[in-house]
Amino acid sequence: MNLDAFLQHVKDIERDAVVEIPNCRTVDALRALEARHVKAPLAEGLKQLKTLPAEARAEAGKALNEAKQRLTQRFDAAIDDLKQRLIADERAVAATYDPTIPGPVVPRGALHPVTAVQWEVERVMTGLGFTVVGGPEMETDFHNFEALNIPATHPARDTMDTFWLTNGWLLRTHTSPCQVRAMLTYGAPLRVIAPGRCFRYETIDASHENTFFQVEGLLIDHGISIAHLIAVMRLLLRELFQRDVKVRLRPGFFPFVEPGFELDMSCEICAGTGCPTCKQSGWVEILPCGMVHPNVLRYGNIDPHEFTGFAFGLGLTRLAMMKYGIADIRILNSGDLRGIVPQNRLTGPQIGGCSVRKNPA
Ligand code: DAH
Repeated sequence: MNLDAFLQHVKDIERDAVVEIPNCRTVDALRALEARHVKAPLAEGLKQLKTLPAEARAEAGKALNEAKQRLTQRFDAAIDDLKQRLIADERAVAATYDPTIPGPVVPRGALHPVTAVQWEVERVMTGLGFTVVGGPEMETDFHNFEALNIPATHPARDTMDTFWLTNGWLLRTHTSPCQVRAMLTYGAPLRVIAPGRCFRYETIDASHENTFFQVEGLLIDHGISIAHLIAVMRLLLRELFQRDVKVRLRPGFFPFVEPGFELDMSCEICAGTGCPTCKQSGWVEILPCGMVHPNVLRYGNIDPHEFTGFAFGLGLTRLAMMKYGIADIRILNSGDLRGIVPQNRLTGPQIGGCSVRKNPA
């Protein structure tokens, strides 16, 4: 390279660097530009200086140095200028910021229909002095059957197709074992409800699932009668539906209650005219219930001569279907978001589940 070419090269470096300056919007961008178009080519120029004839080096070196100084000043000025502008912009935004404007609306989560009805049942029942308790989903034969007056040879076992576990335990077929655990833990008098997931080895169709939810209820005290049972059941349904729903009470057999009842409600899907959800009957079994069998009280260490009680096993999944008009039970476990219930559609005050929650042993 000769001297003229070198001087031209230095000019090119200077021009290339300067044209890009106005395009930089941040200090980092300016520094990157400086590194790319100034520092690197000038360092390269310094190396090329050595390839020039000795007599040309002084002039070339001077030109390189002056270009470097000019460019450094130029970039320093540009960075200062940009900083000032950014500060001014920030001030302008701050000046237009109005802290009294309401914040953006944050979307609230929605509830699964089963959770929604569970919370409502908890609201009504805790209002009546019931405590919410839990229980394990893996149960023993004793709690799920034996202590509920269903011994090993009892035909009632056939009505609850059971998922047996290899250790002899089982997936609870209903929430009724929570009755036993509550009695053994708290004794009488007692008022508890136990919502929870249950499992049965069922063929799945529009109204049967192998995984479903119930709420168990148990009240034990002195002098409890069927009149108390019916009053509480009516109040619960009226509160849940916010109107009087058409119900019928018929005898039902469950080994752990005597007498036992089936409380059916008129099918909300077909208005009682018959559909696949109610198996064309117009009625849905929603609230089986009865007076606690003396044997069950004895298993719970409660003296049946002193105390009586009633129990119920509300079909939470069916209730959700009736309340929200969901015709097919399979939708509930499918992740289909059409069924979700915005929290503001809950009746009564909005609560985050129930605060009174105890887990018996
Ligand atoms: N556990 C029964 C079932 O799943 C339902 C039931 C019936 C529960 C009567 C009760 C009751 O507490 O009193 O089929």
